Amino acid sequence: MPEDKALGFNMVTCSAPVNIAVIKYWGKRDEELILPINSSLSVTLHQDQLRTTTTVACSRSFEEDRIWLNGREEDITLPRLQSCLREVRRLARKRHSDGDPAGLSHKFHICSVNNFPTAAGLASSAAGYACLVYSLARVLGVEGELSVVARQGSGSACRSMYGGFVQWTMGQREDGKDSIAQQVAPETNWPELRVLVLVVSAERKLVGSTSGMQTSVETSSLLKHRAECVVPGRMEQMIRAVKKRDFATFAELTMKDSNQFHATCLDTYPPVFYLNDVSRRIINLVHRYNRHCGETRVAYSFDAGPNAVIFTLQEHTAEFFQVGGTFFPPETNGEQFLKGLPITGVTLSEELKEAI
Ligand code: ADP
Ligand code: DP6
Ligand code: CO
Repeated sequence: MPEDKALGFNMVTCSAPVNIAVIKYWGKRDEELILPINSSLSVTLHQDQLRTTTTVACSRSFEEDRIWLNGREEDITLPRLQSCLREVRRLARKRHSDGDPAGLSHKFHICSVNNFPTAAGLASSAAGYACLVYSLARVLGVEGELSVVARQGSGSACRSMYGGFVQWTMGQREDGKDSIAQQVAPETNWPELRVLVLVVSAERKLVGSTSGMQTSVETSSLLKHRAECVVPGRMEQMIRAVKKRDFATFAELTMKDSNQFHATCLDTYPPVFYLNDVSRRIINLVHRYNRHCGETRVAYSFDAGPNAVIFTLQEHTAEFFQVGGTFFPPETNGEQFLKGLPITGVTLSEELKEAI
């Protein structure tokens, strides 16, 4: 960490990966603290693919906190940004109660870049806020459990604080101190698992996750049923499947949970549409392929956007892409994927969208 005592200047750069929920979070019981109505479980991707990179500088010469996202200055007074800044500073004050840690009385300049589409249903808020909280903590010398702070930036961000398979326990307390993320299994528990991100559209979604889930909580009785009667059982089954590396169960639960999440969006009034025609064609392709194989070898999951996340095992990747060979010409990332990179992003061409 470069530090210049004379200028009182500190700077760190960190990066954080996205995570894709296989048991989805949708709905809050507390908007301000970001407390969910159900627990959720996700897979954290490798940050050599989809990631946020954030640089935080703090200096005596800065007059106010400022933030730039993907090169454009954003409004720092956004309550979620303020929560993260306030909470990390509070932890720093507690940790350094005997003195003034470098920078605690200084302002921050924050510069954050996503190397993938922002607000398109690829969990930019998860990687973004996880990275922000981690970078702020590093610059102020704060260590320890930070998922509670990241959660107050964006719910899904608490899960990006850990790698591998991560659960976010909804918790019971009103102050949210037990609403934390924990690793269920490290990624090394399931080295054969492969993730492919299909970028159907890089455009910003029309309805952000925050407002979409707000309307769902207000209007969808299916969401209430899901949170109370469906998710608790699925969480247990999913944790068992991950620990046993039971792909068929993992895949079926993943697809059913993605489908039920999108069903609650349709049950929302007025309805929210995140999937498009290409998304639906990908869903059909996966089911056709699995049926053809006589077993479940590939699964899909869609967050709040049209982009697909495909899960499969290394042994089936080559075959799945042979089937989809016409969709993935060798000069594209399909080739990269066949070389065995665990995760890759593919932007679908117009021809490809038609073909699927
Ligand atoms: P997504 O599906 O990409 O998570 P959301 O609607 O949940 O979409 O959140 C998008 C919002 O998250 C952005 O409008 C922005 O406010 C915030 N965000 C995204 N990336 C970052 C980042 N790197 N740093 C801070 N905030 C970010
Ligand atoms: C569909 O975490 O983006 O991706 O807490 O309001 O910031 P806020 O919402 P966000 O919602 C994520 C919804 C989801 C499912 C998931 O990631 O669990
Ligand atoms: Co989000």
